[in-house]
Amino acid sequence: MNDPIAPPATPDDPTPLRPTVGENGRRWWQDAVVYQAYVRSFRDSTGNGIGDLEGLRSSLDHIASLGVDALWLNPCYPSPQRDHGYDVADYFDIEPDYGTLDAFDRLLADAHGHGIRILMDIVPNHCSSDHPWFRAALAAAPGSDERARFWFRDGRGVDGSEPPNNWMSGFGGSAWTRVGDLPGADPDDVQWYLGTFTPHQPDFDHTNADVQQLFADALEFWFDRGVDGFRVDAVSPVGKHPDLPDQPPVPPDTHELDITWENPYTVFRPEGHDVWRRWRDVIDRYTERHPDRDPMMVAEAYAVRQPDVIREFTRPDEFHQAFTFDLMMSPWDTGSIEWALREPLELFADTGAPPAWVLNNHDIQRIVTRLGRSSAADPASWTNNPQRLPDEPVDLVVGTRRARALVAFVSALPGSLYLYQGEELGLPEVLDLPDEARQDPIFLSTHGQQLGRDGCRVPLPWTTDPATSFGFSPRPDPTAPWLPQPDWWGRYAADAGTGADAGNPMLALYRRLAVARSEHATPQPLEAELLPAGDGLVAVRRGSLVAVLNVTDRDVRLDSSTVRASIRRVFASETITDDVTGDAIDHADVSTIPPCSTVWLRD
Ligand code: BGC
Repeated sequence: MNDPIAPPATPDDPTPLRPTVGENGRRWWQDAVVYQAYVRSFRDSTGNGIGDLEGLRSSLDHIASLGVDALWLNPCYPSPQRDHGYDVADYFDIEPDYGTLDAFDRLLADAHGHGIRILMDIVPNHCSSDHPWFRAALAAAPGSDERARFWFRDGRGVDGSEPPNNWMSGFGGSAWTRVGDLPGADPDDVQWYLGTFTPHQPDFDHTNADVQQLFADALEFWFDRGVDGFRVDAVSPVGKHPDLPDQPPVPPDTHELDITWENPYTVFRPEGHDVWRRWRDVIDRYTERHPDRDPMMVAEAYAVRQPDVIREFTRPDEFHQAFTFDLMMSPWDTGSIEWALREPLELFADTGAPPAWVLNNHDIQRIVTRLGRSSAADPASWTNNPQRLPDEPVDLVVGTRRARALVAFVSALPGSLYLYQGEELGLPEVLDLPDEARQDPIFLSTHGQQLGRDGCRVPLPWTTDPATSFGFSPRPDPTAPWLPQPDWWGRYAADAGTGADAGNPMLALYRRLAVARSEHATPQPLEAELLPAGDGLVAVRRGSLVAVLNVTDRDVRLDSSTVRASIRRVFASETITDDVTGDAIDHADVSTIPPCSTVWLRD
């Protein structure tokens, strides 16, 4: 990569990092706002059409303006990019398209200078088929030490021509690949290897001592560089039943891509928890040696509607936090939303792990699109399956208003809040990317049956200028971005609008929320409770703060038991206007919650 052209980003007046433990005894990650940067699509500093670390470094002011405490970088290790970094070829270096270790060090130093910690994304379940260990395994004989790091097994059938068991891959087809079928391999090699996602992502065997050491070393390597924690990818399938038995039958209507996640021999196994205890031990020992640091790890355990699973992952000797996905997957009705809140709010009392709220990430349709359908949330939006998504138009006006209400509501809750780049701009999913542009392995391995996740990964629009790929690139006529931006993309640019409409309204909301959160929400306790609020409303009390979400499209009055005489409104996701004049007013009746919006009330 060329040398950086971005200006130095360290501000003249650096913001100190929050102390590892605040005056209230709270650890920094317990109520952090974390911004997820999909580096490839964030900002390109060289004009080659691919986002990079220098692009990210040049935009730290933008990230800091959202009140962010930490930045989570999607994997930025060297990788053939068959799953855009979730196929790691070297856990100890930086992907050349994104920069160098020096560029990483500069980013980390400048982020810390902005008061922002850095979380890396680590991928334990599998590596890339280009990883030297996997290449060595292919070149080695069955039964060798090299193969013992992965799941190589003899095939079944007379000549080993059938896979060792019936396990399916999460991205389509069998989870097994026959070694003898690979280009250049010995055609008589009767072994197969396991890849829970794609054949390019061979699964590690974490009972193997080399594998255990590799990850202990990787954690320490990045901690020594100053990293503050890890988002741990795809923890569900990391442990396997040692005998790899056939998966029991699943209900006949189970979608092919969901079969893996029903497999009791590879999903949420006790063997997986052994791995996390070892990792936690590495982290705790590191912290003992570096008492000024408080590194953490957060689990990506896709345990939707399985709160007990989240409890297990957040036991005191495992993860510090696990993502709370139920709210992201919740239909837009009060019963479902309350259900999604109840367990995470109770969890803290039992495990000390505050929730890690998520409304968006790089794997799911963007929220304004999801909530723009009346059915609102459908797990099929993970793969953008055109057959499974409801056949109804997306109303982005409705979706945007609901998204505003939901982020304002969740910002008041105890716990951490993970934001995904572009949600602060109100970006919708790009649903109509041309097939030839799509790169997600889900699209490729299902031969286009599932559109996959490219639509939420389109490079960000920073300006309204199409000549610079909407500011994604540093100069006019850059190489086209790695995924095409639609021609209407500039409407969502950070600097969109002119005159009285200047500025991106979603961005303005996120910035207002940053201020309101630190003023009214984070000073409150980490305990909170759902309140009875009235039809169409969801309300949570946290100390002296009450957040109320109105999911309906009409004014709703709060239950009188929730409103104390002294209560005042301190935040509203929508400007409250006078019915007659349309003017903004700040003295409206606090117990009336405007349509599809959130208000924060304080005693
Ligand atoms: C990541 C995905 C990735 C998969 C395989 C996840 O859950 O978030 O983006 O494709 O793991 O590593």
